[in-house]
Amino acid sequence: MKKEFISWSPRLSCGIKLIDEQHMGLVNLVNEMYNQATGNDVQEHKYFEKVIQEMVKYAKIHFATEEKIMLATKFSGYGEHKKDHERFVKKVIENIGAYRAGKRLTLSSFTKYLKEWILSHIALMDKQYFEYFKEIATRKEDGKLSITSADIH
Ligand SMILES: [Fe+2]
Ligand SMILES: [Fe+2]
Repeated sequence: MKKEFISWSPRLSCGIKLIDEQHMGLVNLVNEMYNQATGNDVQEHKYFEKVIQEMVKYAKIHFATEEKIMLATKFSGYGEHKKDHERFVKKVIENIGAYRAGKRLTLSSFTKYLKEWILSHIALMDKQYFEYFKEIATRKEDGKLSITSADIH
């Protein structure tokens, strides 16, 4: 495994199944992108066009899920967190535009940016609501946490 790849670790887990699954989905997508970073411009361009919309779509779905839960549970860091999501989407869209306009940007450096953002966002921002969710979530019989309407006050 190349060192750029993200390996999933329990440190990245918040215990809420839906969120953990979405984070794993993002990590898988980034790892897949590293696999396609061959250094061949033509191939990379073709792949980029295919994968990047999927990446943006997936990230937006994930952010909407987090924001919905944060809002419903009245998490105090909601506004700041949402702004961080918005900055990321804006930056990615800017990069897509620049790439299409012919800016020299390799798939590998773009993917590295995604990786760094995702890992630091989970560690710094998502972590803040992880702790809060853990306090208020319901623990199911299988030990998994979930936020139900009963947990929302
Ligand atoms: Fe997240
Ligand atoms: Fe987040």
